Amino acid sequence: MSSKKKENPAEGTVLEEKPSETAIKLIPIYVMGKRYDVPEGYTIMKAMEYAGYKFIRGCGCRGGICGACGTIYRKPGDYKIYTALACQTAVEPNMYLAQLPFYPANHASCNYAELKGTPEEIHKLYPELFRCVACNACSKVCPMDVPVMDVIAYIKRGDIEKAAREAFDCIQCGLCTSRCFAEAPQYHIMQLARRIYGGKIAPQAKHNAEAAQAVKVERKYDPMLKELMAMSKDDLKKVYTEREIEPETAGDEWRPKESKYLL
Ligand code: FES
Repeated sequence: MSSKKKENPAEGTVLEEKPSETAIKLIPIYVMGKRYDVPEGYTIMKAMEYAGYKFIRGCGCRGGICGACGTIYRKPGDYKIYTALACQTAVEPNMYLAQLPFYPANHASCNYAELKGTPEEIHKLYPELFRCVACNACSKVCPMDVPVMDVIAYIKRGDIEKAAREAFDCIQCGLCTSRCFAEAPQYHIMQLARRIYGGKIAPQAKHNAEAAQAVKVERKYDPMLKELMAMSKDDLKKVYTEREIEPETAGDEWRPKESKYLL
């Protein structure tokens, strides 16, 4: 881009106008078959918003945590189907996209308090996990690199701890289930394994018990909650926006200035 000259009326001098460093290069993408030209480098989510889409579902944290923005796409001349989180993946020229904000899957219900924490309980709640034919399609599409097929194998053989640890990064996007021809709801099964391991198998953390005591028995936070519940919406907004935020670089010893409600 060539530079231009313009007069500075205040001083009567001639200023050199720099070319815009923010000139945007647009690239074509296709959303459910329709072409849009969007800025290169945008995430899929931002690009779709730029194109005029408004996310009502299929978008939550925008930070790769909530799993709400599962996306599938293809690239020109490539047989492969790709999967991604729309908030974490940059657009590529000519990608063909479709959002997959929710994928219906069997979610077994149980009385969690009554579970003993045995593998057989998971087997009984989700017998379809034995339909797994070890094709590994679930692991291949996982945007969090969870070894989904292996986790299912650990559950089948009764190793809940290993399953829970390996599935720790699962964010429940459901993409694994969308590809499973055994119709297994892996993300629900893995979540149950994690809950069972955390709640019924792993040694209990001392600080958790202390926190539960402070909430349930000492009612330590009741006055603060009452204060908040009595506030107007505007005051609540003010308190929220002015709250002290932990600096990103803070060490373990960091404490907020107001610490009367800390344990
Ligand atoms: S919006 Fe939460 S993971 Fe993308």
